Amino acid sequence: MDKINSLTGMPDLIGQKSNESNSSNKIFETEIALIKIFESYSLNEIRTPALENESLFNRSVGDSSDIVNKELYTFLDKNKKKISLRPEGTAGVARSIIEKKLDNETHRFWYLGPMWRYERPQKGRYRQFYQAGIELLGYSEGLAELEMISMILSINDALGIKNSKIKINHLGNKDAKDQFCEALKNYLEPFSSKLEKLDLDRLNKNPLRVLDSKSEQTKDILKDAPKMNEFVSKESLDLLNLIKNSFSEHNIEIDYSLVRGLDYYTGFIFEAISDDLGAQDSYLGGGRYDNLFSDLGGKKLPAIGMAIGIERLAEISNYSVENKTLISFIVLSDKIEQNAYKIAHEFRYLNNNIIIEVQLSDGSLKSKLRKANKDKADFAIIIGDEELKNKTLVLKPLKENDSDQKILSIEDAKKFISSLN
Ligand code: HAM
Repeated sequence: MDKINSLTGMPDLIGQKSNESNSSNKIFETEIALIKIFESYSLNEIRTPALENESLFNRSVGDSSDIVNKELYTFLDKNKKKISLRPEGTAGVARSIIEKKLDNETHRFWYLGPMWRYERPQKGRYRQFYQAGIELLGYSEGLAELEMISMILSINDALGIKNSKIKINHLGNKDAKDQFCEALKNYLEPFSSKLEKLDLDRLNKNPLRVLDSKSEQTKDILKDAPKMNEFVSKESLDLLNLIKNSFSEHNIEIDYSLVRGLDYYTGFIFEAISDDLGAQDSYLGGGRYDNLFSDLGGKKLPAIGMAIGIERLAEISNYSVENKTLISFIVLSDKIEQNAYKIAHEFRYLNNNIIIEVQLSDGSLKSKLRKANKDKADFAIIIGDEELKNKTLVLKPLKENDSDQKILSIEDAKKFISSLN
């Protein structure tokens, strides 16, 4: 029979108690840390479906983007309707708010979940990956930009990110963007024969995307190309300087060649990169998208947001969850011992800082203690028939030496558990 394998670029994430450096554990812990930060900024959670009509992504992320052009997972459903797995979260949030007629008020959202892009997998680049996103809806340019950068700095701080650089740029208003695209096109056209097919396609569909080229030859040609700052207004440039100066003690760089891979951006854009990541060095990105709601048939609702690549952030994170005391609860009895299980159940209510893992499997005391040690448990609690009869238990510290093992009454054990921190 054929072996069933996972799909390329779609890794399984498998947590493991005993192994702090397990990359899946780091991903789960990063998610927990991010949610705490989102709550501290008074954001509300929003969950939209993983599947949407394909047209949503054509009209938002844009058909000049690689994401829609080459990377969208699109299927016909049983009704022959074209549906896509979401490649990102912003479009679904906008669709949802327009559909519920909530596009006449402000919203502060966060979300977290899997996204899909049919990319060429490599380190830090997957076909199924996880993003945490933030969308601030109904806020015009100004303080919301500062709030975005403040959130990035809080994320860096909470996760102990060391080598972070935040790159910022401004795409100007529509006129400025159009004029810049025109100038770029005029500059690049004489070099057409030297551009790779991908860059040539980009030149025809959306010249801004050529600035994102990975080709060394194109990068060379771009050295003398017109720059965005020659086109955007004084207000836009002032905003960039204001943001940089507001957080002057942090590594924020104005980069006039920064562009984003999605079409909906209209003004301030940004990315955070880290040298510790290798080729896929951008661990978050976002910007302002003031036209998306009206482009999708909703009201004119100014908006700004960002998304964080969880795998990449986890890779450079130095965060570890608060150390809770792990107790391995071992019941040694031939029958199903519900009285012993009830003791474990009651212990859980005594202290929020403990984790109790009841060893549910059959096996000898020796094998269960081996498992407790493998899990790096702090204590084992052992209850057999004798202990149950006497209303006692054995408490065995696992991180100190064996002689410390003692027999406690259930009442004394409760006091001990309550005192753990
Ligand atoms: P994005 O730049 O396409 O923006 O993605 C955000 C982050 O997701 C990237 O910086 C990267 O860390 C991560 N990422 C993207 N593709 C992959 C992949 N194939 N494998 C692993 N990680 C990946 C957006 O998605 C926008 N929706 C952000 C936004 C929200 N703009 C406004 N609101």
